[in-house]
Amino acid sequence: MSRIIIVSNRLPLKAQKKEEGITLEPSEGGLATGLGSVYKQGDNLWVGWPGLVLEEEQDQEYVRGALLKENMQPVFLTETEVKEYYEGFSNETLWPTFHYFSQYAIYEQQLWEAYVAVNQKFCDEVLKFAQPEDTIWVHDYQLLLVPQLIREKLPGVSIGFFQHIPFPSFEIFRLLPWRREIIEGMLGADLIGFHTYDDMRHFLSSTNRLLGFANLHGLIDTGQRAVLIDAFPMGIDYEKYATLASEEETIRIAEKYRTAIGTPRIIISIDRLDYSKGIPNRLYAFEMFLKRYPEFKEKVSLVMIVVPSRDTVEKYKRLKEEIDELVGRINSSHRTISWNPIQYFYRSFPLPEISAFYRLADVGLVTPMRDGMNLVSKEYIASKYDQKGVLILSEMAGAAQELADAIQINPNNIGQMAEAIHEALILPEEEQITQMSAMQALIKTYDIHQWVKVFMDRLSYVKIKQQSYT
Ligand code: G6P
Repeated sequence: MSRIIIVSNRLPLKAQKKEEGITLEPSEGGLATGLGSVYKQGDNLWVGWPGLVLEEEQDQEYVRGALLKENMQPVFLTETEVKEYYEGFSNETLWPTFHYFSQYAIYEQQLWEAYVAVNQKFCDEVLKFAQPEDTIWVHDYQLLLVPQLIREKLPGVSIGFFQHIPFPSFEIFRLLPWRREIIEGMLGADLIGFHTYDDMRHFLSSTNRLLGFANLHGLIDTGQRAVLIDAFPMGIDYEKYATLASEEETIRIAEKYRTAIGTPRIIISIDRLDYSKGIPNRLYAFEMFLKRYPEFKEKVSLVMIVVPSRDTVEKYKRLKEEIDELVGRINSSHRTISWNPIQYFYRSFPLPEISAFYRLADVGLVTPMRDGMNLVSKEYIASKYDQKGVLILSEMAGAAQELADAIQINPNNIGQMAEAIHEALILPEEEQITQMSAMQALIKTYDIHQWVKVFMDRLSYVKIKQQSYT
């Protein structure tokens, strides 16, 4: 029986050391819920890092056993690997480069070598289980070399690769000293997916410029195989978010929050701590809005949830300080005795509480400088049980390609964002309902299950196509 093996840097469960021992908890990020329908079935498997350095043999065995029950197989990373491969090459070289923050990128041979070695480690773990008839689905920028490494050992196996972050223009991508090796690593897959047509176009132009490969409707002939490049905008588990927003517990939490927050209007913003998310600019825009429209003082609150992430990386530490300072300054200069303009939380919340925030927010404010897709914007839409609410969305998020009914902004344009906040707050209800219903219909149809299905169908299609290829 053939099976699907998912490979990603982070597993959907993370190990945590607590007083009572090691526990497994859900990881941040939408991938886990999304692919839940795949890895939980039959003999399918998810290979990845449980997010914690565990050096003791007995801790590793405990985690391995617990994860196996959930169809997961851990790849344990040492402290040095975490530093060099995860924090270093993945998050200080690839992440900034792919998000057009190349001024933040570092290029160090040692980090690259660690990246190659850890990609090999993931590959070796997969090879312990994979059979030639299996389908291997590799995810994201931390594992760009894994497709080719697997291909060398299992030449006929089906390999899909999906990149969850943007793929930059060649002018940016070419800055990487290892650009050729990276493209070759990815081309080990049979199908390479991106969120948007633009990402796909950028990848095709890089393969052309670096390796001379032309493409026909996204199909590349590498000389050995046909590889298909395509766009698959990722969806969310729509039913889950829609149902959760109308559950009694969520309604109860939402009412409690509304009373505690105390203003008639609420704006919600939720991101991982990341410079790509445009959090400082969003705060400047909110401040400008308060200055331009003082009649909204004491009438509106911005609830800003920042989920801790990669806080051992220098740039993230500094960003945290910048946000803390900005929130402090804005709140102290605009607050009144009974009102704090920004309710800022630096922590994660359980899903029912997130759902309650989405439910009660009049405005969803999503303003990344650059984002592969941005699932928060879709979760907000799915949670608007009565279709009342307005989404403000950055043009630089992949989701903007689909969500044409949102108020779209350029995150560098603070004045435009301030006006968008005002526009959203005064938008008549009928218009809110028209726009929200249109966006709901769209993301309900193209949900996560559809996304998985379309990707898998395309992968089967390219395997058939390869057989007729000479
Ligand atoms: C983004 C990436 C994922 C990553 C997630 C959380 O969504 O595309 O690959 O897992 O951020 O980041 P972390 O570094 O904590 O895994």
